[in-house]
Parts: sequence; structure tokens; C-alpha cells
Amino acid sequence: MGERICLYPGSFDPVTRGHMDIIARAANIFDQVVVGVLHNPDKRGCFPVEKRVEMLRKACAKLENVRIIAYGGLLAQLTREENIRVVVRGVRGVADLESETMMARINHQLNPDLETIFLPASPENGEISASMVRQLAAFGADLSAYVPSEVLPDILAAFAQS
Ligand code: COA
Repeated sequence: MGERICLYPGSFDPVTRGHMDIIARAANIFDQVVVGVLHNPDKRGCFPVEKRVEMLRKACAKLENVRIIAYGGLLAQLTREENIRVVVRGVRGVADLESETMMARINHQLNPDLETIFLPASPENGEISASMVRQLAAFGADLSAYVPSEVLPDILAAFAQS
């Protein structure tokens, strides 16, 4: 049997403990996890893509089977280029499940070899979102419960400058 590899895509603007929970659990299931920083046209970015990649690399440094990449095109095209047949997404509840199901169907239509599997977000991460982290950071609140400790200084530095 070949190597079991999956893509975990997202905006990661910035990476949160919620994302890390899914990455670590996917790394236990798959031989290799490719974390893809992709573009969500519905969102105005905050951190530059290079910075998001750098923060993910720091947060995932101890996970040997995790690789971080950035990609500006369609997820379906990236999976073809990387020969990946499984996408992993975290779901926090029914609202996520609805939108994620739609995205999974479209991606499957665009690349019929591709399947999406959902991991339920751990309950302690159910309230975390990248936009909440950005909002708290802008008001100088304590972020330590929400973001990996390795990237906390980067986030504080970015918001101290703005
Ligand atoms: N626990 C807690 N929160 C979580 C979480 C978890 N396990 N997983 C995700 N979240 C949060 C994130 O922090 C984020 O919060 P925000 O909305 O405040 O920013 C939100 O849930 C979802 O973000 P994320 O998982 O980072 O991804 P996204 O929904 O922004 O990403 C892409 C969507 C990038 C994967 C999608 O737009 C895409 O594939 N783009 C490429 C273009 C393409 O192929 N489009 C066609 C797709 S149908």
C-alpha cells in the first residue's frame, strides 16, 4: 500500500489551537499531512501568506510528518498536482457541516478522485476562530488559550505595530 497522505487546507489567518488540534489528529491517522494555506475569496486577509506559512511551520515543528505549503489556485488543482486524494476539514457544529458539505461536493466534482473527511473539533476549541483571535489581539487581550505558544510573539508583534 502507498503512503497515506492528506491535505488540510485553510486560511490560517493566523493558525489557532483549533487548527492545531485537527493537524495533530490528522498526523496520527495519515503518514503525511500537507497543510495548505489557500486563498478564500470571501475573506480579506490580515497576515501576509508568507507570515501564515512561517507561523504554521513554527507551530508544527515537532510534527515530523507535517509539511506546510501555500497555494494560490483551486484546491482541486492542488490535490491533482500533489497527487493527494483525501482532504481533511474540522467541523465545529451543524453550521460548519452544512458549508463544508457543499465545499466537499464541489471539490469532488472538480476532482472525482478526491474525498473529504471531517473531524469533529474538540469541544474545548469549539469557540475558537481566527477572526476572534484577531479581534482579541487588536484589543490587547490574553491570547494564550487560543493560539499555539510558538506563534504568540509573532501575533503580538504584528498587532503592536498596527
Ligand atoms: N476549531 C476551531 N476553529 C476552527 C477549526 C477548529 N478545528 N477549524 C477551523 N476553524 C475556524 C478558523 O479559525 C476560521 O475562522 P474565521 O472564519 O474566523 O477565519 C474558520 O473556522 C474557517 O477557516 P479555515 O479552516 O482556516 O478555512 P477557510 O474556511 O477560511 O478556508 C479554503 C477555506 C481556503 C479551504 C477554501 O476557500 C478553498 O479551498 N480555497 C481555494 C479555492 C477553491 O478551491 N475554492 C473552491 C472551494 S469549493
